[in-house]
Amino acid sequence: MNGGVVVLASGTGSLFQAILNSDIGPLVCSLVTDVPDCGAVDFARSAGIPVQAVPLTGGLSRDDWNRDLATAVAQWNPALIVSAGFMRILGPLFVDSFPNRIINSHPALLPNFPGAHAVRDAISAGATQTGCTIHFVDHGVDTGAIVAQESVDVQPGDTEEILHERIKVVERVLLPATIKELLQSS
Ligand code: GRF
Repeated sequence: MNGGVVVLASGTGSLFQAILNSDIGPLVCSLVTDVPDCGAVDFARSAGIPVQAVPLTGGLSRDDWNRDLATAVAQWNPALIVSAGFMRILGPLFVDSFPNRIINSHPALLPNFPGAHAVRDAISAGATQTGCTIHFVDHGVDTGAIVAQESVDVQPGDTEEILHERIKVVERVLLPATIKELLQSS
């Protein structure tokens, strides 16, 4: 293992940017994405971090895509793989390639509100408190062992966008701190 961190992201990339700007930023060796033109890629390019794009294109089966993704990540032999706004489910072929080395940041207090619409689901359920969870990735959807959690109040009148941004403010601190702790304890 090289002690480095590979980040997986598909979107705006504000968590990825927070990792880069933290004291573990220098350990980030690559950004791996399924969306070649997303905000996270822009942050990586400005920071001089290598980008590997592995899109799930029409002709590719899920298994082949998971294999390609694993190949892209494995070349760095990272100590930790961090899913930070990666919007696809990682399949067994990928997960089993890196046992106990993949974590994900999820915008809810798991086991409540797993899945892709965690913030919307918390509002719809009338929750007064939600938050974020950093957990290991296993074969389920947001079911792996929980490493860290922090709660965030749901305010009256919150929209999905406003609440998600308030949660992300917390994730941008909790995720880099958790990565640092995991690297120190490994
Ligand atoms: C975060 O809330 C993360 O928990 C979720 O996607 C969001 C990523 O935000 N999986 P960004 O693209 O890093 O701004």
